[in-house]
Amino acid sequence: MPKVTFLNQDGLTVEVEPGSSLLEAAQKCGAHVGESCGGNCACSTCHVWVTEGYESLSEMEEAEDDRLDMGFDVREESRLACQAKIGDEDIVLEITEESLRAWLDEHPEERKKVGSG
Ligand code: FES
Repeated sequence: MPKVTFLNQDGLTVEVEPGSSLLEAAQKCGAHVGESCGGNCACSTCHVWVTEGYESLSEMEEAEDDRLDMGFDVREESRLACQAKIGDEDIVLEITEESLRAWLDEHPEERKKVGSG
């Protein structure tokens, strides 16, 4: 099974079934990826930068592209974690500041532990 590694969470890594979304991978291992709209492509809080394996992800649909336009610090390697489906290759990604902040807003009880805010 392909692995997903979250670079800015001490290299936290999880194995997932092909066809899972990057957000599902994050949920499976507790990575701090925001999901304000519940994975419905209606926000940009699940914005991540995919540094390895980008080409193996599902193609970006127009809705994701449009939504990403509203994100912060959008780069060539940007994807919305709830929309990008994993193929057969391992993925390495970085959670954006925008997404980390959203996750903390969604998990106020974790703020102190993480030491931010
Ligand atoms: S969780 Fe809102 S667009 Fe992905």
